Amino acid sequence: MSVSRSQRKGLILGGIAAAIAIAVAGAALAARAFESDRLPPQPIAFNHRLHLERAQGIACLDCHSSATSQTYAGIPGKAICFGCHDPDPDPDDASADARKPAFDTLMAFAKDEGDIPWRRVTATREDVFFSHRRHVAVAKIDCRRCHGDMPERTSPPTHGPIVISMDECLSCHEETKASADCVSCHR
Ligand code: HEC
Ligand code: HEC
Ligand code: HEC
Ligand code: HEC
Ligand code: HEC
Repeated sequence: MSVSRSQRKGLILGGIAAAIAIAVAGAALAARAFESDRLPPQPIAFNHRLHLERAQGIACLDCHSSATSQTYAGIPGKAICFGCHDPDPDPDDASADARKPAFDTLMAFAKDEGDIPWRRVTATREDVFFSHRRHVAVAKIDCRRCHGDMPERTSPPTHGPIVISMDECLSCHEETKASADCVSCHR
């Protein structure tokens, strides 16, 4: 059974009583990763911190370039990785990074026909509308404000989904005088 947009809107408005109950329950909606839901590993043990420290001048948008123009920020395909990494590296390279298992996994994708099958782990509920373009390009909010610990990570998250709570959305919307109408986000 599928629920139409207008039916869903009705459900949301009907949920005002529920929302008040949630407000009374207080901090129950804090940002959270579902610690119990262990994720299958990402195809490559990508290291954010290493890249941000060692790849001179690299920015979030070099790899997540859709964030300024689309609802999704996007996870980079292998063409971006091989813009820096030689797909046919010197087999005698004995540097520590070249010996990491993750490096071999990346190199296997150089010969593979397909792209790297990354999985998304940060997500809101299906009925919540969120646009990166609106927040990154229009409101000029730094990625770190919402994805605080991602740049510090040395390996991909192992538990998820990672959810930004309604309280977090609303506290900034109040602060910045952005819309607090239910239907701005629930559509
Ligand atoms: C702007 C350049 C740049 C891009 C783009 C880039 N890398 Fe790297 N990568 C580096 C640098 C610099 C290092 C540090 C080692 C070195 O000097 O080669 C590194 C190291 C690595 C390593 C080995 C170290 C470790 O901790 O495992 C892996 C694996 C890796 N990158 C995967 C990727 C993947 C996957 C992508 C695409 C999503 C990517 N890289 C995109 C510059 C880049
Ligand atoms: C060299 C490419 C590269 C750079 C630079 C980079 N990322 Fe990523 N990012 C990735 C890859 C690959 C993944 C998927 C694997 C993982 O989770 O580590 C990812 C995953 C993410 C995710 C999780 C996506 C999901 O599914 O939930 C967030 C959030 C994120 N990056 C934010 C950032 C921010 C913020 C910055 C800048 C501080 C940044 N990234 C810089 C390549 C990059
Ligand atoms: C105002 C908060 C906010 C800001 C600022 C923000 N994000 Fe996100 N990000 C989110 C939310 C919420 C989701 C989950 C979206 C969904 O489920 O549709 C998400 C999901 C993602 C994802 C995984 C899904 C996707 O969109 O591809 C990546 C990667 C990501 N963000 C990267 C970034 C980067 C890089 C920046 C800065 C250029 C950034 N985000 C800025 C809130 C934010
Ligand atoms: C750090 C501050 C901040 C956070 C956190 C934030 N937003 Fe926003 N949001 C803004 C600002 C500022 C605007 C107004 C941008 C503009 O001028 O168009 C906005 C606009 C929006 C709009 C467009 C509203 C309209 O006028 O139709 C939606 C939808 C939205 N945000 C959803 C979300 C959701 C969902 C979350 C949480 C997952 C979230 N936002 C978190 C600051 C934030
Ligand atoms: C700025 C964006 C935004 C606005 C405005 C907003 N919400 Fe939400 N709402 C969210 C996000 C994001 C979630 C999912 C977060 C989560 O799962 O914790 C959510 C979740 C919910 C839930 C489900 C809670 C649960 O635990 O499953 C209800 C009910 C809800 N919202 C009702 C409302 C009502 C009623 C209004 C208007 C008074 C409203 N929301 C306004 C962003 C918003």
